[in-house]
Amino acid sequence: MSSSFSLSAPIIDYLTEVNQSEHPALTACRLATASHPKAMMQISAEQGAFMSFMMRQLDIRLAVEVGVFTGYSALVAALALRQNAGPGGKLFALDISQEFTDLAKKYWRQAGVEDTIDLRIAPASESLNALANEGYAGKIDFMFVDADKPGYQDYYEHGLKLLRTGGLMIFDNMLWSGAVADASDETPDTVALRQLATFAKTDPRVRAVMVAIGDGLMLVTKI
Ligand SMILES: C[S@@+](CC[C@H](N)C(=O)[O-])C[C@H]1O[C@@H](n2cnc3c(N)ncnc32)[C@H](O)[C@@H]1O
Repeated sequence: MSSSFSLSAPIIDYLTEVNQSEHPALTACRLATASHPKAMMQISAEQGAFMSFMMRQLDIRLAVEVGVFTGYSALVAALALRQNAGPGGKLFALDISQEFTDLAKKYWRQAGVEDTIDLRIAPASESLNALANEGYAGKIDFMFVDADKPGYQDYYEHGLKLLRTGGLMIFDNMLWSGAVADASDETPDTVALRQLATFAKTDPRVRAVMVAIGDGLMLVTKI
C-alpha cells in the first residue's frame, strides 16, 4: 500500500506546490505523520487537494469518513464542510482505533474545526448502522472510504443506504499499489478490491469511475 505509488517524490512535491495552499494544520498533520510507523496509510496531499476540490464544487454539507488514522483526510473534509456550510457542516468520522485518532485531535483543534467532526470509535459497520438508525438514511452528501479492504463491499452497501440520490462515495486504494492488476495476487485485500471494482461497474444503482489518483480512487454516485 502507498499513498501515490505511481509517482516519483519530485512529482508528488511538485503537485503539492502547485495545488491550492494546504492549511497549516494539514501540513502539520502530514509532516508529523511522516515519522509514524504506519505513515503510508495517510492519503497524499494531492489526494487531499482533489477531495477538497470535489467537496467544495459539490457543496457537500453532510459527510461520513470510514478510516480516520491521524486525521488528515478528515481535516480536509471538515475544512471543506466549514467553507460550504459554516457551523452547519458535519463529518461523521469513523475509526476503530482510539490510539490513532487521539493523534488527530490536536490538528482539528488547530484548524478550529473540532466541532464539525463527530468522531465515533467502533467497527465501521456498527457506526454506519447506527447512523441509519439515527435517521441519516438518504441524507448524506458524501462518504470517503479508506479502511480495511475486506470491509469495502459492506461499506459500499451502507453508503448506498445513507447517501442521498446524487450523493458521492470515494473509495481509496483501489489500485493497491498495482496489485489488483497482478492476476497471481489472490491475497484477501487484493481480491476484495477487485471484486468491488467489478461489482460497481455493473451495479444499476450507481455511476462509477476509477481514476489513478494517489493509490487509485473509485468515485461512485448514487443514481
Ligand atoms: C488507511 S488508514 C486511514 C487514513 C486516513 N484516511 C488518512 O488520510 O490519514 C485506515 C484506518 O482504518 C481504521 N480501520 C481499520 N479497520 C476498521 C474497521 N473495521 N472499522 C473502522 N475503522 C477501521 C484503522 O484504524 C485506520 O486508522
